[in-house]
Amino acid sequence: MTCPRSTALKSPVGARSLRKARHCARFIPIRLTDRDSNTYRIRYQSIHSLGCVPPYDPERVLCKCTPVAIDYVDTSGPGESTLEAIGGAFFKQRQIWLESLGHRNLEHHLSTLRTTANIRKIVCFGLGSLGRLSGDCYTRTHTQHAAVETIAASLVRRGLSGSQEIKCYAQDPVYDEVDHEFLRSIGITPLEDPKGFLEVDEHTLVFSVSPDVPVKQIVTDLHWPGAMIWDTVTPSEKRKSWAKYKENDGTIFWIT
Ligand SMILES: C[S@@+](CC[C@H](N)C(=O)[O-])C[C@H]1O[C@@H](n2cnc3c(N)ncnc32)[C@H](O)[C@@H]1O
Repeated sequence: MTCPRSTALKSPVGARSLRKARHCARFIPIRLTDRDSNTYRIRYQSIHSLGCVPPYDPERVLCKCTPVAIDYVDTSGPGESTLEAIGGAFFKQRQIWLESLGHRNLEHHLSTLRTTANIRKIVCFGLGSLGRLSGDCYTRTHTQHAAVETIAASLVRRGLSGSQEIKCYAQDPVYDEVDHEFLRSIGITPLEDPKGFLEVDEHTLVFSVSPDVPVKQIVTDLHWPGAMIWDTVTPSEKRKSWAKYKENDGTIFWIT
């Protein structure tokens, strides 16, 4: 992430002081004693971050830099919404999506795309929680989940599924039990990480929007999918690098 200085100073994300990080002081990849942690998760690192040694702590490459590791982490617990509340918000947002230009464009692309791919599954990654209804981020995640139906219906209409039903799956560790139940009710099977990655094959369309993990790199390492639908690819694909900033009080920040 390239962060303009003003943003970086307001937000600690991506900003580091020159002091050595506490977690890197010794070689302890898994902090079993962390009282706030309650579950294990796979930690994936992108090729860009593996190739970007932090100048404030070069030893970090020795303890943190593996493409895949197991972390002991805190999960935020169940979301705040009931199934009914999610349904009410989702179907409203789905209607907005169905009447939108984005929906028309997506249908147009899928109906005119020159391809002979045979798609039998859609596997989604990182579409976000459906149940976090406070704030307005949920409209994005509801729209993205509604788009899964649009993609499946368009592919069937195009005859790309060989007149079979397209199975839809979604992996996001943020989903809780209510999300799972709601997903099943709209025809999407939730999968725990890494089962989504293991579902991908040459008959799969991968759909992912702003995932926190390097989905493209993981799926292409495992099995090339038949197709991928992605959000706008920005220059963040460029080689990552660190930049040094100095505060008026002399504090040094490193930003990536
Ligand atoms: C920046 S959010 C994007 C959410 C939503 N797609 C949007 O556009 O608002 C990144 C998402 O990636 C999810 N994520 C993190 N690790 C993941 C994994 N291993 N597999 C799938 N999704 C993951 C996070 O839980 C989060 O929902």
